Amino acid sequence: MARVIVTGGSGFLGHHLCRALLAAGHTVKNIDLRPNPEVDTVIADICDTERMLVEIRDADVVFHLAALIEAGESVKFPQKFVDVNISGTVSVLEAMRQNQVPTFIFSSSAAVYGEPLRVPILEDDRTLPINPYGMTKLAMEALVSSYVASYKMTGIGLRYFNLYGPEEHHQPESHAIPRFIEQIQSGQEVTVWGNGQHQRDFIYITDVVEAHLQSLNLAQQQPQKYHYLNLSTNHPTEVRQVIQMLEQLMGKKANVRNFPERPGDPLVLVADSSKATQVLGWTARTQIEEGLKKTVEYFLSKQT
Ligand SMILES: NC(=O)c1ccc[n+]([C@@H]2O[C@H](COP(=O)([O-])OP(=O)(O)OC[C@H]3O[C@@H](n4cnc5c(N)ncnc54)[C@H](O)[C@@H]3O)[C@@H](O)[C@H]2O)c1
Repeated sequence: MARVIVTGGSGFLGHHLCRALLAAGHTVKNIDLRPNPEVDTVIADICDTERMLVEIRDADVVFHLAALIEAGESVKFPQKFVDVNISGTVSVLEAMRQNQVPTFIFSSSAAVYGEPLRVPILEDDRTLPINPYGMTKLAMEALVSSYVASYKMTGIGLRYFNLYGPEEHHQPESHAIPRFIEQIQSGQEVTVWGNGQHQRDFIYITDVVEAHLQSLNLAQQQPQKYHYLNLSTNHPTEVRQVIQMLEQLMGKKANVRNFPERPGDPLVLVADSSKATQVLGWTARTQIEEGLKKTVEYFLSKQT
């Protein structure tokens, strides 16, 4: 069993990951700006270098999830994103280096690719972010690979597109699925950019959690290496199909309003995750119908 530190363990992915790590018998300490009553949590800022030196020690692995995540916000406030996502990551890595914590498994993003030249995207395809958020994730990857090479650490970066599932609560909620559910439920307009034929890779939360647990095994089997892996369903879904499925599950018609397409919004975004299958033994198992059903059940149960 491993001694685990999770940063960002009070967020959407963090809640699910901490729960799964505890269920698997690991000891878990969470570092976040917000509480998570389900796990031993230290309220601290990852940018506080002195504090990270105190908190990140006596551990086998850090799962680094803490970040600013809204791409649109990053366009308005790039410096904030650099401070938290890049400098914050250095502060965590420095504490690990100084306190001999060897393994760093972290949330990268498929935003590192920007507008792909082809789909499905492979890990070694061009990385050319189109917003500061994606840039910070690419910089994080470069930081980690340099720490792995310089200090004999182990690093695993996981790249995915659109996570969804129960307990997703971002402020503001810019992510499509929880936003659509709320808009359909309250009878508001469901806002869609373009004609709804855009295909996106919606990946269910527990599948991504599973990949994090499997990454622990990979770190043990292949230490002192840097791995970067796509996590994908390999099956993109049209946005309008998602809305149709939600209408059926919720028994309510969506009042869809189409807005002009956003520049730099490719028609199809999907990655190829055969490398993750090969090195982790991982595949996304949850079909979109099943994942949406569980997600809708959760959100409807919150409203009663
Ligand atoms: N949600 C997605 O669709 C998606 C897709 C690709 C990658 N990711 C990445 O996965 C990770 C988790 O995403 P999420 O959806 O759970 O996000 P989230 O916003 O729900 O969780 C992030 C957590 O990090 C914490 N945090 C932010 N700044 C911090 C700081 N300075 N110090 C300490 N804690 C801080 C927040 O309080 C929050 O609890 C992020 O790194 C994100 O970039 C998410």
